[in-house]
Amino acid sequence: MNTNRKQVLAFKELPDDQLVRLRAEHDVVVADPRVPGQEDAFRQALPTAHAMIGASYRFDDALLDAAPHLQVVSSVSVGVDNYPLASLKARGIMLCHTPGVLTESVADLYFSLILATSRRIVELARHVREGRWTSNIGPDLFGWDVHGKTLGILGYGRIGQAVARRAVHGFGMQVLYYTRTPAAATEGGRVMPASLDEVLSESDFVVVVLPLTDKTRGLIGPREFARMKPGAIFVNGARGAIVQEDALLDALDHGTLRAAGLDVFAREPLPPDSPLRDHPKVLALPHAGSATHETRHAMAEMAVSNVLLALKGRRPLAVFEA
Ligand code: DGY
Repeated sequence: MNTNRKQVLAFKELPDDQLVRLRAEHDVVVADPRVPGQEDAFRQALPTAHAMIGASYRFDDALLDAAPHLQVVSSVSVGVDNYPLASLKARGIMLCHTPGVLTESVADLYFSLILATSRRIVELARHVREGRWTSNIGPDLFGWDVHGKTLGILGYGRIGQAVARRAVHGFGMQVLYYTRTPAAATEGGRVMPASLDEVLSESDFVVVVLPLTDKTRGLIGPREFARMKPGAIFVNGARGAIVQEDALLDALDHGTLRAAGLDVFAREPLPPDSPLRDHPKVLALPHAGSATHETRHAMAEMAVSNVLLALKGRRPLAVFEA
């Protein structure tokens, strides 16, 4: 009998080929506590689990107390805001994630939101589908140009930089970015570091690409929306809690914000009574930034590699270091 086999708890379904990789080396229980009927199997697997792999589930101390043998948590995500970082560290549990493989897909989705909000793609498509296209459209349905405008990026990690590349090379835009550790201007001065207030007040589009941390929670509130250019478009594909949603609604209803493209929300899935769900100026998506077949598979593959390496005592592909 192979005594190196360990217990792995997958708290989210994995692609079949990735489950095969895990099962070749370890004993795997797949139990998603959010799926009715799987909660018990999830709880029963915790006491013996050496590794956990999955996404979009909030870990807390009670969960970690129930899993005393846990060595590694492998998140199928780049963001790690669902995990109690200090508790994991104190217990010596390694946290792995999946940066890099989702960068370009997420940047594509940011640009979809920029284009869809400014060119009013969903409204126009609905106009056709509902049989209202009976004569040429007029200014009441015209959009606004994207090319040549100024794009403000809050956060300038891998995804922020990928959004900037699209803006400069695809759309001839000027980019201003705000980050804690600004670098020099690049792309012949088309991508420039700036203060938060400069980014907010000089950009036609403000996009949030920051991680959710204690420092960024609620960062965008009434003061920040008030500083944005009249007619600016706001896009968030990072984490909903970075934005004060009441302030966003106020800026849409009573301020000069033209539209918001949102892939993320303070509560997900978006509650049925959320005023953001059918607000006429909001284009809301179901947290789909990395949701392509190719990218979700690449994320699962990387997360499985992280588990396999960690359980062998080798360095995983991506360990999250706070
Ligand atoms: C992530 O990986 O953190 C993205 O939000 C996709 O879920």
